[in-house]
Amino acid sequence: MCGIVGYVGFRNATDVLMEGLKRLEYRGYDSAGVAVKVGGRLEVLKKAGKLSVLGDVLKDEKLPGHFGIGHTRWATHGAPNDPNAHPHTTEDGRIAVIHNGIIENYLPLKEGLLARGHHFTSETDSEVLAHLIEEKYDALPGSPGRLVEAVRQVLQEVYGAYALVVAHQDHEEIVVARTVSPLVIGLGEGENFVASDVPALLPYTRRVIFLHDGDMAVVSRAGVEVTDLRGNPVEREVVEVDWSLEAAEKGGHPHYMLKEIYEQPRVLENTLGGRLHEEHANVELDLNLDPARYDRIHVIACGTAYYAGWVGKYLIESLARIPVEIDVASEYRYRDPVVDERTLAVAISQSGETIDTLEALREAKRKGAGTLGVINAKGSSITREVDDTLYIHAGPEIGVASTKAYMAMLGAMAMLAVWLGRARGTLAEADAKEFLGELRKLPRLVEQALEQRAHVAHIAEKYHQAADYLFLGRHIQAPTAYEGALKLKEISYIHAEAYPAGEMKHGPIALIDERLPVVVLTTDSPFYEKTLSNIQEVRARGGRVIAVATEGDLEARRFAQDVIYVPRTHHLLAPVVSVVPLQLLAYETAVLLGRDVDQPRNLAKSVTVE
Ligand code: F6R
Repeated sequence: MCGIVGYVGFRNATDVLMEGLKRLEYRGYDSAGVAVKVGGRLEVLKKAGKLSVLGDVLKDEKLPGHFGIGHTRWATHGAPNDPNAHPHTTEDGRIAVIHNGIIENYLPLKEGLLARGHHFTSETDSEVLAHLIEEKYDALPGSPGRLVEAVRQVLQEVYGAYALVVAHQDHEEIVVARTVSPLVIGLGEGENFVASDVPALLPYTRRVIFLHDGDMAVVSRAGVEVTDLRGNPVEREVVEVDWSLEAAEKGGHPHYMLKEIYEQPRVLENTLGGRLHEEHANVELDLNLDPARYDRIHVIACGTAYYAGWVGKYLIESLARIPVEIDVASEYRYRDPVVDERTLAVAISQSGETIDTLEALREAKRKGAGTLGVINAKGSSITREVDDTLYIHAGPEIGVASTKAYMAMLGAMAMLAVWLGRARGTLAEADAKEFLGELRKLPRLVEQALEQRAHVAHIAEKYHQAADYLFLGRHIQAPTAYEGALKLKEISYIHAEAYPAGEMKHGPIALIDERLPVVVLTTDSPFYEKTLSNIQEVRARGGRVIAVATEGDLEARRFAQDVIYVPRTHHLLAPVVSVVPLQLLAYETAVLLGRDVDQPRNLAKSVTVE
């Protein structure tokens, strides 16, 4: 949550900060601010609202300088207004602080500071850090290491989550520290960078250091020194990131979300690429975990990743016959789950930084589980805490509403199910070969599903004024229904509910009338007839049915007012092709309603607060 950028070097720092923040705006867009050293002083400009509001102010008030820090905020403590925007400074403006996360003991610390005569201008927990650093700094003797030492001393007193970035007008260096909230350092020649996520760095460098929990660093023009919180030097690997700049931009589409929807065939190819081996009736996942050790799986994830996990449950239980429990991560850690060393905890996450997922994973680990991450972002926090990682290779996902990462997660979970099924002897060689053949076809089938866009746009036009939507799906298509409803509510703000189709008659049926569009996933499966009966139940009560059906299914036309056809595939892979029209339906509806598709209200891409 929140985007951070820092720069020290020879370029115009304001330009670097604004360019970086633009690429991080998906992490939060309640307010934005920069502090740039101009003529020996830190000049701060901060504004409530999107980054463009700050950009407009900066057109008039240029801040020329080569050293600065910037922030785009997703509010936690304090309303999204100008005073609560970061950076926060000391009263004399010498020190500027940017903080992402939550300082849990900020209230007693603030009371102490107030009693000692400090004045506060914001309601944030973060401002406390600026004042505490000032106190420690002033008490230390003048030396080049004075700022970092002051920050280090403050960090002994605070607890909570932070990605912290500190600048002082008398030190041309950025002092950073992280616990829980991510931070990455970009390495240049005669310049160095700090950011909360890689896309901000891509115009300047691909050589990065991902800081670990409990790391601090001093970033200057000359170099970067990483230490632990006590000041002991630590070695961190320099990673070469292979994301292209173009991959992180819109590529001609009006929105990142649409670009990412269209990228899905290629993404799926990347996910599956080189890993399917029909000749051996298996997949090559490069995992070290021992499948014989486990007799149950706990999948933990949030939001869209959770729905991918739910699809994974059906895949794994069908192909590998291991019981799989799925949990929303924020619930898992508090329900005292029954876990032992024969439990494999699988954390699914695009960002690899979602704090609920990370904490649930830690809970499983504490109880003795083995751990696997199914993750997109390389070097992210979850990847560092799990025993093993299965990367989904979706590339950078910028649209706040997740699409291509979901697709890649489905591909990864299908491969995991095959791998487990083969290792446990529950998936016969011939069946594995057939299933792998179907998996290999998926990128092309997703391409075909995308061809329905104009038809889906027409349906969106018909129903975009609806106040509510209902989504129904059975078995492995139940999670698809939930994902379709989530996408629609996230970006169009239309209220949407999802139910397993058979559950409808136990209550939600009362909602049905001629104003309610009901999306029913009725693709080919052993349960097809049952779902068709559910459609009839909706029609009998005047509901408007939009069926997502397998191409060639003429029966669906008899019952549904609108049918969206998707290509035929193995019924366990139907979620992969069926989610595409639901993503498009959400997208087209949001555009018709004039919503901000890439930055829907109240959301943030990476949720690093509980
Ligand atoms: C939905 C969405 C969120 C995320 C959730 C988990 O479109 O983007 O529901 O799926 O916050 O995020 P990750 O996968 O980064 O853990």
